[in-house]
Amino acid sequence: TPPAPAYNEELEHKTILVGDSGVGKTSLLVQFDQGKFISGSFSATVGIGLTNKVVTVDDTKVKLQIWDTAGQERFRSVTHAYYRDAHALLLLYDITSKSSFDNIRAWLTEIHEYAQSDVVIMLLGNKADMSSERAIRRDEGERLAREYSVPFMETSAKTGVNVELAFTAIAKELKQRA
Ligand code: GTP
Ligand code: MG
Repeated sequence: TPPAPAYNEELEHKTILVGDSGVGKTSLLVQFDQGKFISGSFSATVGIGLTNKVVTVDDTKVKLQIWDTAGQERFRSVTHAYYRDAHALLLLYDITSKSSFDNIRAWLTEIHEYAQSDVVIMLLGNKADMSSERAIRRDEGERLAREYSVPFMETSAKTGVNVELAFTAIAKELKQRA
């Protein structure tokens, strides 16, 4: 049998961060990209931002082209335009915000409407460091993820917990599917 074709390290995997405004999409990406957390007043993303990152999976480089979308309603039509070519979607809620969790179903409905059917999806419950203000238990996140057959993690853009792991898991899945 011929050897399996080598993974193409030049492939760029379009990955999109989505979820309600304020859940921590930009903070998560800054933590992943620069290893830091910018505290202070919240400034909502306007439009869309792009960060390129290379993740190493089993000695192979996986290129991620990460799009940070604006969660505010008025930018929704901009976000929809990006879904179509997405290879992966990181869908975030904030564990201290019940509304951001309740809206996950609506986000998934939108994703299924606009994205490719084979898009890689991962659900993230962010702000895991804010345990005293927690509104959504971990098992509630797990249950929702199971219902939609997507992997789930709790992350903290502040402490960095599971941030690298989440993006690496996405890269791994993309590499396997390529
Ligand atoms: P939009 O751009 O409007 O869609 O919001 P966003 O999802 O990009 O949220 P952003 O990253 O700007 O974070 C919103 C606020 O939550 C900011 O004040 C952040 O400092 C804070 N924040 C984000 N992630 C965390 C986290 O993991 N822990 C804590 N404690 N605060 C966080
Ligand atoms: Mg933002």
